Amino acid sequence: MIGRICGTGSYAPPKRLTNDDLARFIDTSDEWIQERTGVVTRHVIEEDTTVTMAAKAAKSALEDAGMDPQELDLILVSTLSSNVIVPCAACEVQKEIGAVNATCFDLNAACTGFLVAYNTAQAYISSGMYQKVLIIGSESLSTVLDWTDRGTCILFGDGAGAAVLSSEEGILHPMVTHSDGTKGGALKCSSRHVKNWEAAEAAGDTHLFMDGQGVFRFAVKKEPEAIRELLEKVDMTVDEIDYFILHQANKRIIESVAKRLKCDIAKFPMNIQEYGNTSSASIGILLDELNKSGVLKKGQKIILAGFGAGLSWGATLIEW
Ligand code: UT7
Repeated sequence: MIGRICGTGSYAPPKRLTNDDLARFIDTSDEWIQERTGVVTRHVIEEDTTVTMAAKAAKSALEDAGMDPQELDLILVSTLSSNVIVPCAACEVQKEIGAVNATCFDLNAACTGFLVAYNTAQAYISSGMYQKVLIIGSESLSTVLDWTDRGTCILFGDGAGAAVLSSEEGILHPMVTHSDGTKGGALKCSSRHVKNWEAAEAAGDTHLFMDGQGVFRFAVKKEPEAIRELLEKVDMTVDEIDYFILHQANKRIIESVAKRLKCDIAKFPMNIQEYGNTSSASIGILLDELNKSGVLKKGQKIILAGFGAGLSWGATLIEW
């Protein structure tokens, strides 16, 4: 058995911050941010939380799938920025949408999270353990950023993306995922809960830290490698793939991956200009936009690829 995506959904909080908005309180410019990252605006939460965004994206995906929440037997939420530790975000989503028959848990593989959630769903479906699975990537990164650090805060944004998978006859394609914990220091966020006000004052390690250039170099090398490894495993060429839906980390990273694969950039859709880098939500949000706008057609071959903190990276083939 394999899982087929039968519905997608996404949600972004209404409040948008433009590059010019940021330039009012940090030393940056719209020109620099657009040129170096491709980001024009990002959405940030005011009333929403990681859980409420996840639930809104989930409802939209279920509606798209024409599926009753009670049919779900597994809910996976991928997040690094949840407003709850226990109960897990997936249980909170379950409560919100009334998916009373689902088993629920969270996973954290940072920006590779949507991909890992998809692979986990496939593993459970192909084992026969679950049949209808809801995967969600939801992030409120605005709550973990250091808004005085222009090297990171300009890049990220908040939002959620979701997909519903339903089991059907078929053979599971091989998947490619890798992790390298020895390089984890390049992108870290030790804790979002400072011990006291004095600790908050010295808050260095409570904020997201990123060695931007280091992560950039890692991404442009490892992502094409993972895609090539996947293509070899499934015995396909770049030309046979209709779209590459990459984690929206930075426009220049995506352009570089396309160039290294010697592939037309038109096959690499992007929405980073609107949302910034939303970590584990980005692939789900983009997938939903492409689905709802009718870009994706039945039978198309699509590669999902993610990379980020851990360090972690990978690629997976889906047939639409
Ligand atoms: O989501 C998965 C993980 N994350 C990523 O994949 C992100 C990977 N990294 C990146 O996207 C990029 O490294 C950044 C967008 C974070 C930074 O871009 P960069 O081109 O690597 O900039 P840089 O850090 O090398 O800085 C270049 C220059 C520096 O000035 P000097 O030393 O050359 O005078 C920085 O101080 O640009 C300066 N700079 C800025 N200037 C204006 C850094 N940030 C800014 C800024 N506005 N926001």
